[in-house]
Amino acid sequence: MNRRDQPIGVFDSGIGGLTVVSALRELLPNERIQYLGDTARVPYGGKSAATVERYSLEITCMLLEQNCKAIVVACNTASALALTMLERTIAVPVVGVIRPGAEAAVAATRNRHIGVIGTRATIRSGAYERAIRALDSAVQVSARACPLFVPLIEEGWLEGEITDRVVRQYLQPLVEDGIDTLVLGCTHYPLLRNAIGKFLGNSVRLVDSAENCARAVSHLLRQENLQANPGTKGELAVALTDPPDVFLEVARNALRLEMGEVVLRPLVPSK
Ligand code: DGL
Repeated sequence: MNRRDQPIGVFDSGIGGLTVVSALRELLPNERIQYLGDTARVPYGGKSAATVERYSLEITCMLLEQNCKAIVVACNTASALALTMLERTIAVPVVGVIRPGAEAAVAATRNRHIGVIGTRATIRSGAYERAIRALDSAVQVSARACPLFVPLIEEGWLEGEITDRVVRQYLQPLVEDGIDTLVLGCTHYPLLRNAIGKFLGNSVRLVDSAENCARAVSHLLRQENLQANPGTKGELAVALTDPPDVFLEVARNALRLEMGEVVLRPLVPSK
């Protein structure tokens, strides 16, 4: 098969990476996408760097077995902790969500004070601060882990009184710090965009790592001459390492994604 016709492999710790897939489908409708969600081991957000690296490599190898021409790490935690290792280890191009998000945030801020929210592991890693400061060392970063957002989203509580209170509890200190831009540094968080936008109002711009990652993938495919032929009908195949739960329906409905039957690809125990 011509390399350009091979699929793009996209992975996340679970289902949240479908926000990146949705952005990819919109921007690159001719591409075939093979999505693999590690639902057997989600969440990655509270795990150690060594564990997230190991999981990320195992999932990437499963995608490479399907001849993927590029790998998209559609998980902020895996991008923060495992991207460098993946770039060094595998033979196809890899795109993560952190650098594109940092670039968009630096382009968006006016007062050079950016907020970043994500899982504990992402925030602890300091990956966003490093990426932002590498682009503009004068930018101030206020970072905050929001560990309750993922379970709220997975429960489908995308709006409502409880969600509003949790949003306020986590984001009020960032507003008081004076941020004018907020990076949604977790693949689940675009699903909370309405609730977050309602709390922050128009004075804080939201940077969605999903959309910016899709733009970075598009750029990479052009650069490497790997774009699918324009006549190709793109499609999405979704596989999970454990059978789906209610969150698949939440994400599918919120993102209006068309996908065939979800396939189960159990992890093979390492020797
Ligand atoms: N996908 C993860 C991220 O973007 C969130 C869920 C998890 O903790 O695994 O950081």
